[in-house]
Amino acid sequence: MDSSLRTIGVLTSGGDAPGMNACIRAVVRSALNKGLRVMGIRKGYVGLLRGDVMEMHASSVADIIHRGGTVLYTARCPEFFQVEYQDRAAEMCRIFGIDGLVVIGGDGSFRGAQKLSQRGISVVGVPGTIDRDIACSEYTIGFDSAVNIVVDSIARLRDTSASHERCSVVEVMGRNCGELALWSGIATGADAIMIPEDEESQGFDHLVRVIMENRARGKSHNIVIVAEGVGNAQELSKKIHDATGVESRCTILGHIQRGGSPTALDIKHASMMGYLAVEALYSGETNRLICVQNGKYVNIDIDEGLAMKREPSLDIWKANLQISTY
Ligand code: ADP
Ligand code: F6P
Repeated sequence: MDSSLRTIGVLTSGGDAPGMNACIRAVVRSALNKGLRVMGIRKGYVGLLRGDVMEMHASSVADIIHRGGTVLYTARCPEFFQVEYQDRAAEMCRIFGIDGLVVIGGDGSFRGAQKLSQRGISVVGVPGTIDRDIACSEYTIGFDSAVNIVVDSIARLRDTSASHERCSVVEVMGRNCGELALWSGIATGADAIMIPEDEESQGFDHLVRVIMENRARGKSHNIVIVAEGVGNAQELSKKIHDATGVESRCTILGHIQRGGSPTALDIKHASMMGYLAVEALYSGETNRLICVQNGKYVNIDIDEGLAMKREPSLDIWKANLQISTY
């Protein structure tokens, strides 16, 4: 136990993700049960720099476990790339007596946390992003909820697409990562999945062949999932129409994918990771990330975690290629 630890702060940073509230709740309750004070920092690093900080009690996190978004608000903070602002943020932690900080966010937010750790603040990161783009963790809070939103949306699109015998081109989020596209693609029986990490998946001639062959075998509609990192889905939809004669419509699911209640899986991971983040700080650890590796929760060094290279789930893409043609 770290006897110098008296107060911990918690913030959410980067894009919000369903399950962040459940994680905040776990952090607050676990810390209070250890006799620590907890400060909630609003709007990520933006709020830290402004001193937008409030004390949190057990009741502050009542009735949020099932709610989407983040009660602490979130933000991107461009100033935080500058040393001057990193110094100021560490100073703010000292002013508010924050000895340990839990940062819930993506890899960008962890790079920010690294800077605070280098300035003597104990930090632990918890992966929270719908993108599932953090190399060192098999899971990121919000991913399962987002996959389920995409699957549900595509079920709706399938009805109208089949009725009109159309091709639905669906753009999903993920920044430069194709995991959301891959998981939702195989779960919806998509004819094709295009991801930024793999050029082969973006081959237009192959896509045209799959659509034509599936039509020839009696399929009345097509679903093509495009990860946003691939580029212009609208243009692709038009090209499909021109090349195949199949009427095509593009749907960009956008921020819908980040909203709504988290799934049970997200709440479970969020609760466990929030709890483990506090355990790590309480044991005197710093510059750590709570991750899932080989199906188990582990706590690793942030520098090592961020240095890891992400491997896209190409096995899903290959399997879908076989399953989607008949
Ligand atoms: P995410 O955390 O979801 O990956 P971003 O990449 O937008 O989201 O990062 C969130 C915030 O983290 C940024 O707006 C910035 O304030 C901070 N951040 C990102 N990268 C760095 C960095 N290299 N150094 C310091 N702060 C960073
Ligand atoms: O990182 C989460 C994410 O939703 C990405 O999938 C997407 O590219 C980005 O954030 C969108 O950011 P914003 O909410 O700023 O439009």
